[in-house]
Amino acid sequence: MEATHHHTAKHRLQAWLLDQAEAYMHRKYGARKRSIFRQLPRSVVEIGTGPGANLRYYPPETALTAIEPNPAMHAPLRANAARWRIDLTIRGIKGESLDLPSASVEAVVGTLVLCSVNNPRQVVAEIMRILKPGGRFFFLEHVAAVTGTRLNRLQTLLARPWRWAFDGCHLHRNTHLVLGQAGFAALDMDCFMLSSPAVMITPHIFGVAVK
Ligand SMILES: C[S@@+](CC[C@H](N)C(=O)[O-])C[C@H]1O[C@@H](n2cnc3c(N)ncnc32)[C@H](O)[C@@H]1O
Repeated sequence: MEATHHHTAKHRLQAWLLDQAEAYMHRKYGARKRSIFRQLPRSVVEIGTGPGANLRYYPPETALTAIEPNPAMHAPLRANAARWRIDLTIRGIKGESLDLPSASVEAVVGTLVLCSVNNPRQVVAEIMRILKPGGRFFFLEHVAAVTGTRLNRLQTLLARPWRWAFDGCHLHRNTHLVLGQAGFAALDMDCFMLSSPAVMITPHIFGVAVK
């Protein structure tokens, strides 16, 4: 399933950038990730794992199925899995169409990924499909600022160049609404403003959705 050749320069750049950002993300998101990931079961599916920024928060021996379409992420992901003693399976596919049976998994994780996928509603529908009843989706995402604010206007202005520069990342998606409308039985969602010099990605949501 893993293609470790034919990486484009852009794919490689993206993988390298994310690996560089790992220490920063750990400082910025670590406490919040720990607070929700501590409830994770032994077996987890993660959408858009990248090089594996979340692996340090998973209990050692976690059985992780990583959905990661960019093959340039796979080598650093494997290295991180060895480092954090994670039992890793990589699927080089997109979150819009998962090759996992319906109602088969207890937990799905996604961080900073619904900003980047082609179709967030479809990805959330797929997450919903593969979760068992009572299964949980753990998320952390940057989102659109409140409509009408200066920050929202800035996001609109920067959206296109940002998307070009950061591999399809959308600055102002209403991911909170997508999650709210997905039909989860319960949605425990917190909003926070990340203190960051990159003001356009300060508004965030994180929490747990239960099927
Ligand atoms: C901004 S990175 C975040 C990586 C990691 N989750 C983190 O928190 O650092 C977005 C990741 O989503 C992946 N991705 C992009 N489109 C995707 C899709 N349609 N389905 C699944 N993953 C996707 C990218 O290859 C990349 O690894």
